[in-house]
Amino acid sequence: MEANIPKRKETGKSLRIKVISMGNAEVGKSCIIKRYCEKRFVSKYLATIGIDYGVTKVQVRDREIKVNIFDMAGHPFFYEVRNEFYKDTQGVLLVYDVGQKDSFDALDAWLAEMKQELGPQGNMDNIIFVVCANKIDCAKHRCVDESEGRLWAENKGFLYFETSAQTGEGINEMFQTFYVSIVDLCDNGGKRPTTSSSAGFTKEQADTIRRIRNSKDSWDMLGVKPGTSREEVNKAYRKLAVLLHPDKCVAPGSEDAFKAVVNARTALLKNIK
Ligand code: GTP
Ligand code: MG
Repeated sequence: MEANIPKRKETGKSLRIKVISMGNAEVGKSCIIKRYCEKRFVSKYLATIGIDYGVTKVQVRDREIKVNIFDMAGHPFFYEVRNEFYKDTQGVLLVYDVGQKDSFDALDAWLAEMKQELGPQGNMDNIIFVVCANKIDCAKHRCVDESEGRLWAENKGFLYFETSAQTGEGINEMFQTFYVSIVDLCDNGGKRPTTSSSAGFTKEQADTIRRIRNSKDSWDMLGVKPGTSREEVNKAYRKLAVLLHPDKCVAPGSEDAFKAVVNARTALLKNIK
């Protein structure tokens, strides 16, 4: 935990921080950084070899921040190279491609890799993570929708932004919020301020929304066995309705999940005598 506290310069005004990028190969990590630092986009894929390192200065409130960016290669081949670079990090850009479900599903494995490299003394609670749902310009190929990504991120207390390195959409806002959060963390003695980690919804709500999304039919959605009685269906429905009602639940995707549950109950009751 102590190791995450960045060095301050003598003026006390400027700050030096380290951020890293993580995510599968080809999701756009390098392009996001290039778009922000160089205001340009390269459409040709140039895989990062191991690590790319750069330094940039940014202004956050009245303070100058020197940012050391370590842009990691996503390809598994470079594991041995990048595993050296996880420690002493204040911020992580966790990127997936909204058109590649695999890259979204891989986010947990990226966190696990980092946790493993930090070892038992490492503490990931005091690192700012921002999830970038990238390539939103490719709307036709999109297969991970906003509420699904946001739910995953917010459930973990991470920031979430929809980005396109190609058009620049969301990039400046994402970096600005990211840096402000890191500065707040540093000002808080290297600990994440409690407000930025509270998702505003429970794990049970998040897990239920995810389960409803992945359910194979109406029975499965209500969590009851096929052939269950009207009473049991209504009981299961009431439980879910209380948990997910839009007046009560602010989790991303709760409104759609609630509607799906209402429809599932209606469909089942039609066929049960
Ligand atoms: P590794 O370095 O191999 O881990 O990949 P990376 O995640 O750094 O990917 P990179 O930034 O090199 O981008 C991969 C490919 O996706 C390139 O062809 C980019 O032009 C393209 N790309 C990146 N961001 C976007 C985006 O927002 N929209 C679109 N349409 N293409 C993008
Ligand atoms: Mg790269």
